Amino acid sequence: MSTILIIDDEKAIRKTLNEILTFEGYKVTEASDGEEGLKLFSSTTFDVVLCDIKMPKMDGIEFLVKATELNPDVPVVMISGHGTIETAVDAVKKGAFDYISKPPDLNRMLITLRNAMDKNTLSKETRTLKRKVSRVQEMIGESEGIARIKDTIEKVAPTDARVLVTGENGVGKEMVARWIHEKSNRNTGPIIEVNCAAIPGELIESELFGHEKGSFTSAIKQRIGKFEQASGGTLFLDEVGDMSLSAQAKVLRALQEGKITRVGGDKEISVDVRVVAATNKDLLKEVEDKNFRLDLYHRLGVILIHVPSLNERRDDIPLLVDKFLGDIGVEYGQAKKTIDKKAMDALQRHNWSGNIRELRNVVERLVILSGKSIQLEDVNNYVLPR
Ligand SMILES: Nc1ncnc2c1ncn2[C@@H]1O[C@H](COP(=O)(O)OP(=O)(O)OP(=O)(O)O)[C@@H](O)[C@H]1O
Ligand SMILES: [Mg+2]
Repeated sequence: MSTILIIDDEKAIRKTLNEILTFEGYKVTEASDGEEGLKLFSSTTFDVVLCDIKMPKMDGIEFLVKATELNPDVPVVMISGHGTIETAVDAVKKGAFDYISKPPDLNRMLITLRNAMDKNTLSKETRTLKRKVSRVQEMIGESEGIARIKDTIEKVAPTDARVLVTGENGVGKEMVARWIHEKSNRNTGPIIEVNCAAIPGELIESELFGHEKGSFTSAIKQRIGKFEQASGGTLFLDEVGDMSLSAQAKVLRALQEGKITRVGGDKEISVDVRVVAATNKDLLKEVEDKNFRLDLYHRLGVILIHVPSLNERRDDIPLLVDKFLGDIGVEYGQAKKTIDKKAMDALQRHNWSGNIRELRNVVERLVILSGKSIQLEDVNNYVLPR
């Protein structure tokens, strides 16, 4: 059932509109001024808003501007009285979907509302489409190692189980984390990434849990932490092995209780977050060295996914090279370059200490420096150590 919010200070008008629209099968909510309307608007997602222009407290234009800021996807139809036609036209320029005049012509109003709903559905569809297009990149590889990872992702993603992804630099740990999110039921929610290695120890708690204004010298504004931002979605704790012990203790508590407290705050806030963590460190060794908490290790690593190094899955190199040749061609707006068999063999034998990231860089370098077809000579000149 489609939902409509009617905002008008005249009770009689609200009542009439409500009766008509309810009869037409809409679910109607009423507000008697812009302020009340905005409160309802910010707590519920309506399909359409019908809004009067002249009202006490907050008028229709102010409501329109604020509502569009909060959610630009919900169409607002203005109701214009005799004296406010010009304002209504102005409102349309400011982003209102359309306006109807008072007293409303029934047919025209219903058509306008239907059009507004269609626009709403369209923009929702566009967004879903965009999301699909910008989706995580394809995971290339037919080696046993990659097949096993894809299989694990399929099985694990729909559950809320925590996953710890391990592997050397550049093997594709982040890609695995993004696929887990994409294939989960949380994929309409956000995936929020925290690079634990990049944030100074004293700031990581505020980064993860947020802070209240004034809780420390540089906390001039309240800040919402990554745990809260990720609510309804996935929190990706990258380089988790680099997190300070004091942050580890707090993360552990957040995972155990599903609640967090902002730095300098006293309120406990419930968060609905699935955590996926990644590290290139040997966490059990870090535990031995007292750099990482064993209890946190067990909490994070309910499911372990180890991404094999590229040297362990050389069979995948031709597929990856082919993919990167295509991608880079598109990026530079040129035709896809080809690669000679001998050159490919040399790449397949190379020692890839930087894994897939290094391979991509190398292919990019070869595309820039070689002719239409990449030759063994190019590989010898530009890739292999002399
Ligand atoms: N199977 C794959 N198919 C295609 N591209 C891949 C694959 N795995 C990784 N990549 C690409 O390789 C690059 C490195 O991957 P990613 O950032 O996921 O690695 P990482 O393990 O998180 O690296 P680091 O340890 O440096 O953080 C990215 O550009 C990613 O898109
Ligand atoms: Mg990474």
